[in-house]
Amino acid sequence: MSELFDAVDVIRTKRDRGALSDAQIDWVIDAYTRGAVADEQMSALAMAIFLNGMERREIVRWTQAMIDSGERLNFESIVGEGKKIATSDKHSTGGVGDKITLPLAPLVAAFGVAVPQLSGRGLGHTGGTLDKLEAIPGWQAKLSNERVVEILGTTGAVICAAGDGLAPADKKLYALRDVTSTVEAIPLIASSIMSKKIAEGTGSLVLDVKVGSGAFMKDASMARELARVMVDLGTDAGVKTTALLTDMNTPLGLAVGNACEVEESVGVLAGGGPSDVVELTVALAREMLTSSGIDADPAEALKDGRAMDVWRAMVRDQGGDPDAALPQPKETVTITAPESGTLTELDAYKVGVASWRLGAGRARKEDPVQLAAGIKLHAKPGDEVREGQPLMTLMTDTPERFERAQQSLEGSFTIGGDLRERPLIIDRIVSERSE
Ligand code: URA
Repeated sequence: MSELFDAVDVIRTKRDRGALSDAQIDWVIDAYTRGAVADEQMSALAMAIFLNGMERREIVRWTQAMIDSGERLNFESIVGEGKKIATSDKHSTGGVGDKITLPLAPLVAAFGVAVPQLSGRGLGHTGGTLDKLEAIPGWQAKLSNERVVEILGTTGAVICAAGDGLAPADKKLYALRDVTSTVEAIPLIASSIMSKKIAEGTGSLVLDVKVGSGAFMKDASMARELARVMVDLGTDAGVKTTALLTDMNTPLGLAVGNACEVEESVGVLAGGGPSDVVELTVALAREMLTSSGIDADPAEALKDGRAMDVWRAMVRDQGGDPDAALPQPKETVTITAPESGTLTELDAYKVGVASWRLGAGRARKEDPVQLAAGIKLHAKPGDEVREGQPLMTLMTDTPERFERAQQSLEGSFTIGGDLRERPLIIDRIVSERSE
């Protein structure tokens, strides 16, 4: 078949800081999905986009072309008590100890909003929601689209793997970006996330855009720009979209890994849990409820057990046993405080890399993860510690991993000096077009 454009011309346009035409964008995404544009050509184009950026028009068109590369789901058929149920979803740009989806999805569903949470696996130092949930014995990530709709109409929340039919162009391109150092580009991140969320067909969306050492965006102004672009993309596509800019300089909660993060999430659903995890879960739930037209205090449903009831039903719907014991690590090593004083820094990126090296994450997407691997933190910035007191427990099934994990923790914490107060929720971004 003769092609409409030549990939080399498209790459050259972007290399020379030009703007791609709508027709060029439609063609390159389609041709890459069908294999007519080679990986090495798409890599060059991704790097040119990384270096030279894209105009808003190009980002909008690129996102639409990725949506059009696959199927669109339809939640119109979800009804409860005879009327259509609102759907709402959350997406985080990725962090360390970020287990928020686990308590959030059942919490929001407890208020009658359906939560279709199509999630991914971890790659690099950030964990993946599906890897965490697979620590629950029997739990299955893969569901048919029909089953997703069925569970949403009964239990109200589903956390499962996105099917292969959803934005296949993004699946190919994301894997390529991961190995060509072209992940951290605003046009590419925004179009990647929003193509999947728009294709999924959710009615509203809250974005948790992370900023700090453990996030893709280290810098607040870049994170804010990313949030604005995504909020506008969602709003223009008819999805009520808001974003919270949240701190990712230190891990969320006290557990980083897989099984240990499930355990911590269950603690939050039982009305306890670390205050930062509770604060962010409640803030994101409030956004989702407000966008769905519900005025209620989400914290109530954590205290009275309603969110826990939905969690247990959700786990059972996907073959899991909510009462089963979670996997425990074969080996542990404890790191203690070398001196007494205030813990002033605990670096999210270093802790994330250490957890990954202990086996909680994967180096290549086909690698298995260790369900019990990770890190339990015993202190967070602001806490007073005594010399010799445990600061963190490293967990793995393969003790040969301890050495490299410990290397990556060098300089990961500071005792003494000035404590930099960092609010967890830095800003809220709404579309100027929707106000
Ligand atoms: N998450 C995504 O789905 N895509 C990106 O590009 C970055 C984070």
